[in-house]
Amino acid sequence: MAHVFVSRGLAGDALDRLTEAGHDVDLWTGNLPPHPTELRDHVAAAHGLLTTLTERVDEQLLDAAPQLQVIANYAVGFDNIDIAAAEARGVAVGVTPDVLTDATADLTFALLLAAARRLPEAAAAVTEGRWRSFETQAWLGADVTGQTIAIVGGAGRIGGAVARRARGFSMTTIIVGRNDNLHEALAQADFVSLHAPLTPATHHLIDDAALHAVKRGAILVNTGRGGLVDQVALARALHDGRLAAAALDVTDPEPLPVDDPLLAAPNVLVLPHIGSATHTTRAKMAHLTVDNLLAGLDGRPLPHPAAASKK
Ligand code: DGY
Repeated sequence: MAHVFVSRGLAGDALDRLTEAGHDVDLWTGNLPPHPTELRDHVAAAHGLLTTLTERVDEQLLDAAPQLQVIANYAVGFDNIDIAAAEARGVAVGVTPDVLTDATADLTFALLLAAARRLPEAAAAVTEGRWRSFETQAWLGADVTGQTIAIVGGAGRIGGAVARRARGFSMTTIIVGRNDNLHEALAQADFVSLHAPLTPATHHLIDDAALHAVKRGAILVNTGRGGLVDQVALARALHDGRLAAAALDVTDPEPLPVDDPLLAAPNVLVLPHIGSATHTTRAKMAHLTVDNLLAGLDGRPLPHPAAASKK
């Protein structure tokens, strides 16, 4: 019997498969994620660890978990985990690819459309009693159909799915991979959508220089990772009108404090990281996570190893 620490309750019945397999499950039931010191205490006896992207798995945590065999991240991204440090200790790391691709690409388009057509402002006008008649000049937004979108991070799983949706809107897509000229693409795009994994090389990829390269009036959408964007520079670009809007499902930090200056910038729409938040997607993610845990605890190769994964 192995001991598994599960840092968050999951929807559905996937976690039952751990107990059915005879493992002992220590389920964190707090409303908020475990504090790093609580996490360290709970991993001390763990052979398996289920994390979400809010748990930082670094050398210190790994050193506190001498028996750990497998970490199953309930996400396709794994920038919260020091993969090299885990590998050095023989700890396998698994993720949840594919099952969240469509949900995240759908949300990317929801954000793009909401920002382009100013849905939050228009809806607020209704609930706040400011809708007095058919308005000929209010809430005018940007066209989407036929415009140009830059997909930064390449046409991987989610980037590719966004590109397919963009084609449905007759958009011209510019796929910006690691070796492509980002600033040139930014200068041409009406919409910029971020799908690069967060690594030291992509941290603040969208910095002040990039935000000076964007086409005036472009709209930025980020459903990747908050750390891809320098948020101070982003707030400046919104205040200056260089960007017409930013629609973000991810921020740095998460949660974004309500007094963060970014929230005071014009035309910013921020969601609480809900890219994969559909009933079926989250249930599938839970099963993939448990598949990874069960394999790792049995000493089998993980079905969905982080090393093989690209968002
Ligand atoms: C992921 O899986 O990496 C998403 O950002 C969270 O669902």
